[in-house]
Amino acid sequence: MVKVVRATQLELDTAVQALRDGELVAFPTETVYGLGAHAGHPGALRRVFELKGRPNSHPLIVHLDSQRFLTRWAREIPPAAEKLAERFWPGPLTLVLPRAAGVNPLVTGGQDTIAVRVPSHPMAQQLLTAFGGGIAAPSANRYGRLSPTRAEHVRDEFGDAVRVILDGGECKLGLESTIVACLGGTVRLLRPGAVTLSQLRRVVGEVLTQPSAQSPRVPGSHGAHYAPATPLAIVPGNDIEELAAQLSEGGQRIAVLAQRPPLGTYRFVTWINAGQRVDAYAHDLYAHLRALDRAGCARILVQEVPGDERWDAVRDRLRRAAAASVAEPADDDDSLAVGVLP
Ligand code: TXA
Ligand code: MG
Repeated sequence: MVKVVRATQLELDTAVQALRDGELVAFPTETVYGLGAHAGHPGALRRVFELKGRPNSHPLIVHLDSQRFLTRWAREIPPAAEKLAERFWPGPLTLVLPRAAGVNPLVTGGQDTIAVRVPSHPMAQQLLTAFGGGIAAPSANRYGRLSPTRAEHVRDEFGDAVRVILDGGECKLGLESTIVACLGGTVRLLRPGAVTLSQLRRVVGEVLTQPSAQSPRVPGSHGAHYAPATPLAIVPGNDIEELAAQLSEGGQRIAVLAQRPPLGTYRFVTWINAGQRVDAYAHDLYAHLRALDRAGCARILVQEVPGDERWDAVRDRLRRAAAASVAEPADDDDSLAVGVLP
């Protein structure tokens, strides 16, 4: 039986005990829900990979309640990392740092670096403080699928397999944290998130964005990730309505994620207007994609989002979802001119 806990003291105690026993605890953060394991418990860590269906080589983020025990996890904290932590923790920023000796290699995927983050969600803070150690937590979804932004998404995905699910309501931000590597004297953006490139640059000056030969691997940033099961394509704003109308006329059920309402009514189109505000768009993106995925459509068309920096994280996740769809093309109607933008 899955226990849904709100964080009363008794429930926190249950979650902490579960972690100590090597069980998994799903918990809310301000970005997405995490699937938490005692970061020093090999059995618990193995269970995370098993349950997610994630390859062992993909490292996990260690969540801490504050910077106080950071040196247990990172052997060196470069000045740039200190500044970033000072400015953005607690919050949606993950730092990749040189790994401290003694960190379980299951956490780091055998790499010499470690990803750490201090989340700001009050319930995550409560849990981390009560637990008193590091909680390794990937997003609480099966490998390659959409991240959960509500407790019910975690329940839908894992059911009874996760003993404790802390329900902290909807995640405030809705997209995974910004990941920044502070290694070898450079600062490099590995995954865009709510903390933007210009915000990072204001704090540390130069921030690289292109991967280098020595860059740490960020397995979650390649290929089939953040994807609904329904094939998804990104379509320019001017074309989306016509394309949806045309496909609907041909009898295909089509799902649309747009930033405005449709101009007409179409028999086979399920249309979501996600609006033009980036915060709200990001907040609802995964929930919308989940809803459209369940609508029984042949494909999901997403209106191309604006090109400015504030939309970087949204654009990144949409691009990956579209790339995953190319890897598994729809089996019907290959005559379609559905443009997948680069
Ligand atoms: O917002 C978030 O970051 C959420 C919440 C739960 O904190 N977590 C999350 O975890 O998105 P996950 O496992 O789904 O994605 C973590 C990403 C992966 O792409 C992983 O490859 C990368 O972080 N990563 C972890 N350790 C790394 C390291 N040492 N070097 C480079 N990338 C690393
Ligand atoms: Mg993930």
